[in-house]
Amino acid sequence: AIDPSFDENREVVGDHEGHDVWGPVDEPETLGIHGTHVAVDFDICDADGACIEDCPVDVFEWVETPDHPTSERKADPANETQCIDCMLCVDVCPVDAIDVDST
Ligand code: SF4
Ligand code: F3S
Ligand code: ZN
Repeated sequence: AIDPSFDENREVVGDHEGHDVWGPVDEPETLGIHGTHVAVDFDICDADGACIEDCPVDVFEWVETPDHPTSERKADPANETQCIDCMLCVDVCPVDAIDVDST
């Protein structure tokens, strides 16, 4: 599961489409965590897609991640600023790849 204390245990190593990327990153095998308020551990996400289907405000968009060992696409929190903290995505992700900081 995603580390809920990732913001203490990792460092921002880059920006992707306006949101933070938390390392380590070593493409294509290691992709890190995308987003901060809505954080998706790309190394855990296996492209189930429930978050994309269920988010009421369409926070997530697919990004292609060819040659990643777990899956070749990931749910990117492209619109994390739109999040309404409903926690649905956290509940439905079968591999616990998502953390939403609702505090
Ligand atoms: Fe979307 Fe709700 Fe998840 Fe926020 S907590 S990203 S609104 S499903
Ligand atoms: Fe990935 Fe979980 Fe969404 S596996 S696509 S973050 S439901
Ligand atoms: Zn991203």
